[in-house]
Amino acid sequence: MADAGAPGLVPLDRLPGGERQLHLTGFMGSGKSTVARHLARALVWSFLDLDALVARHAGKPVARIFAEEGERAFRKAEAHALRQALRKPRAVVALGGGTLLSADNRRRCAGCAVVVWLDCSLEVVRERLGTVREERPLWRAGELEALLEARLPGYRSADHRVDADASPHEVARRVLQAVGVDG
Ligand code: S3P
Repeated sequence: MADAGAPGLVPLDRLPGGERQLHLTGFMGSGKSTVARHLARALVWSFLDLDALVARHAGKPVARIFAEEGERAFRKAEAHALRQALRKPRAVVALGGGTLLSADNRRRCAGCAVVVWLDCSLEVVRERLGTVREERPLWRAGELEALLEARLPGYRSADHRVDADASPHEVARRVLQAVGVDG
């Protein structure tokens, strides 16, 4: 896929709809963190990665939280980190792949952010995650279809869907276009 380069700078105080944050949702390996970084640079906003915030608060990586405390504890910590992150103006937030499973999280995001779903094929996800499975406790070869199926209702609650089987720059450009910001 041709890559026309990074989107140009478009500093803004709010998105066209008045929102102070832009959130990216999507499956593991859909490129949320990488694309969010590009978007933050383009908008001259802060970049926040929800998994990284959870790990920082817990003092250990996400995989260890799952292993030592279980998914329930991780979800609680994730919801807490989201509430903290939502306070920050002008931020692009890479949500975790399961953040929008929670109706409460969905409501909170909808209140102050435009949420964009990076819709990526499992083929591309498998290619991207082939070497970094250890960091993702829910990544299990052969179970990805069922996991994605379970997450789709959350992803479909997003305000916009963007085809994410492309380079991060291209996906970032598509996101800006979807939210009505001309790069
Ligand atoms: C999860 C996705 C991961 C991380 C955790 C759970 C999920 O985030 O939050 O391992 O439930 O899909 P990424 O999508 O950033 O890998």
